[in-house]
Amino acid sequence: MADEAEDAILVYLKDNDEISNSANFAEEFGFSHDEILNVIRRLNGFRFVEAQDIRKERWVLTEEGKTYAAVGSPEFQLFSAVPTEGIAPEELQKKLGPAVYKIGCQQAIKNKWVQMAKAQVSRKVEHADDKVKDLLLRIQKDEVVNQEDIDALKRRKLIIQQIWKGNSVRKGPEYAPKRKRAATDLTRENLQRGDWKELEFKEYNFSAKGLPVEGGHLHPLLKACFVRRQVQTIFLNMGFEEMPTNNYVESSFWNFDALFQPQQHPARDSHDTFFLKVPSTTRMLPEDYVERVKEIHESGGYQSRGYGYDWKREEANKNLLRTHTTAVSSRMLYALAQKPFAPKKYYSIDRVFRNEAVDRTHLAEFHQIEGLICDRGLTLGDLIGVLHDFFSRLGMSKLRFKPAYNPYTEPSMEIFSYHEGFKKWVEVGNSGMFRPEMLLPMGLPEDVRVIAWGLSLERPTMILYGIDNIRDLFGPKVDLGLIKRNPICRLGL
Ligand code: PHE
Repeated sequence: MADEAEDAILVYLKDNDEISNSANFAEEFGFSHDEILNVIRRLNGFRFVEAQDIRKERWVLTEEGKTYAAVGSPEFQLFSAVPTEGIAPEELQKKLGPAVYKIGCQQAIKNKWVQMAKAQVSRKVEHADDKVKDLLLRIQKDEVVNQEDIDALKRRKLIIQQIWKGNSVRKGPEYAPKRKRAATDLTRENLQRGDWKELEFKEYNFSAKGLPVEGGHLHPLLKACFVRRQVQTIFLNMGFEEMPTNNYVESSFWNFDALFQPQQHPARDSHDTFFLKVPSTTRMLPEDYVERVKEIHESGGYQSRGYGYDWKREEANKNLLRTHTTAVSSRMLYALAQKPFAPKKYYSIDRVFRNEAVDRTHLAEFHQIEGLICDRGLTLGDLIGVLHDFFSRLGMSKLRFKPAYNPYTEPSMEIFSYHEGFKKWVEVGNSGMFRPEMLLPMGLPEDVRVIAWGLSLERPTMILYGIDNIRDLFGPKVDLGLIKRNPICRLGL
């Protein structure tokens, strides 16, 4: 169809200077105006023709206007319905219907065609012309009407303005009566018929964008694995060894007690921690060490006063989903203390669980990154130094520290990093020096200090990918569009 329209235009221009109005042309040759306009646009692009825009404003009748053009204006209908001897208003209204009667009265009175007495409507003139109907008919025929009349009809909403757009067309510099369409594909038929020899092929457009690739989009959480890789590499470059974190189920003992976290601590409540029903308790703990932990909780030692409460073995035996990877750190440090001392740098990145109400920054499970250094005579200055080193490798070089509290570290510091995008300081982690109440019962030498820090993996991922709600990162509310739009990887992390 489009080809026919194209041919019609080109052939017409062969013998004629101009198509002055695309709409008339379309009507004359039996095409839709839209189709003709499309073809003109295309031919104009190939410079086969030169198209000029034509824009016309014209007045068309509204539905109401069309009715009056057909049956006369309400005022004229009313005037015609009033007999010479006059008529009662109720009767007149019955004849005309309420709408025509109402408008008719207003206008006929204004025109001084009729007068209204209480019980009588009567003519004031013998003869009236339906000027409104005449005007509407003239507008319908596209005849010129003076502005005053236009304004009056517009006010009565009998006509509205319509903007009409079309083209006038002349030959263009590349004009030919027939446009050879370049072939885009070499087909089997072309080869069989041999017509490929005559075919003109469309040139390749090497700068055209290909179709967007569907599929193969990485979920943001998988990108968390990217961040995880990066973090892993950072730790390895800094000489850290990975801790074995392949146990989600942990005993309260390693998760809390060994970390000098008292048994009444609110974090040990089932509102904060997922406890296991089956198996609900652990089977094996190092008994002599358990004794020393009980001792330090109840009455202290190593110059500590302890907490002064009745430490219960049953509480320590309870199995749970580990609430932090520091549970693994405590196992590792205990194991380290069983051998002649050697300094160590350990890290882990793995999943932890907290029984929390899910909100924009919290999920019930997430990943923790943890690092620790164990050596003689370490200080808080060493911790600050290593944190600067670690975080600047993650792209966070402006750091600030705020005193904090953890049952197992003293001093403790929250870590804040200045986020250039958010233009504010955001909390990125927690850190501290493990307490002697934790290290000495394990059997580590007295001058051994352990500096450690922890952070969530999701947090830097959200910051790096500009996600401000964790539910956009994980769970049923993740927007698939976001996954598609996100870059597959980021450089310069
Ligand atoms: N375990 C802490 C947490 O879950 C993080 C931390 C690790 C703090 C090591 C101090 C030292 O937030």
